[in-house]
Amino acid sequence: MIDTHCHLLPQIDDGSTSFETSLEILRLMAEDGINQAFLTSHYLPSLYQYDRALYDEKFEELQSKVQKEGINITLHPGFEVFLNPNTLNDIERFNLTLGTSHYVLIESDLNGLPKDFYENVYPLLRNGYRPILAHAERYVSIMNKPHNAKLLMEKDIYLQINAGSILGQYGEKVRQTAWVLLNKGWAHLLSSDNHAQKPINLLTQAINLIKERIDEHTVQLLTQDFPQMIIDDEQIPLFYVYVQKPHHHHHQKTFWERIFG
Ligand SMILES: [Fe+2]
Repeated sequence: MIDTHCHLLPQIDDGSTSFETSLEILRLMAEDGINQAFLTSHYLPSLYQYDRALYDEKFEELQSKVQKEGINITLHPGFEVFLNPNTLNDIERFNLTLGTSHYVLIESDLNGLPKDFYENVYPLLRNGYRPILAHAERYVSIMNKPHNAKLLMEKDIYLQINAGSILGQYGEKVRQTAWVLLNKGWAHLLSSDNHAQKPINLLTQAINLIKERIDEHTVQLLTQDFPQMIIDDEQIPLFYVYVQKPHHHHHQKTFWERIFG
């Protein structure tokens, strides 16, 4: 299982407050079957001031502590980039992608995607990046009209959903929206978005529910296959759920079949 969104790099955003906490949470995650994780710290300079060098320094320190303590989890660098007119610039300057891929985890105003949302996304697409909207189910415009999620996908934007949303952690409307997105195939990644909180098993709880109510295949795609495609920088199919049309047996006979058949 691969967690593609969590805030476990210490003292860099509103996530983990210490290396000890990070190590404790990562150990519990590993015990729960998560063997890889992207440490997606918020990139929002007005709120969290750090540069890429400091991120890398902390990342390497945490990685070596994880190895030293024998915790069986592979860490990948990453960011949750708050979209604004400078985003392309920042991505190119500081390499704000997920691992070494072209995927970029983005977030925006939950109360309403700003008017310049697409204007800020298109330059990313034109330059070969693959934007993933973080916790898509939490945006008011998607909660009010889940079909808006599909419109984002039609513009080549991938969608990530939070395990906690599936479980009702953000309220009933977010919970319902998350299930609609899952059922329709309008979700590409299921992640913890863990801010160093316990319990850490929300991801496995959500997975068990999805296995029960949808199927195991969906879980495999959202927590293993698609995340692996990010690591390998392969193109995840945007529309991976296809409605099965009723099968028609009567095929149009050809000229020769009409004569000889
Ligand atoms: Fe997050």
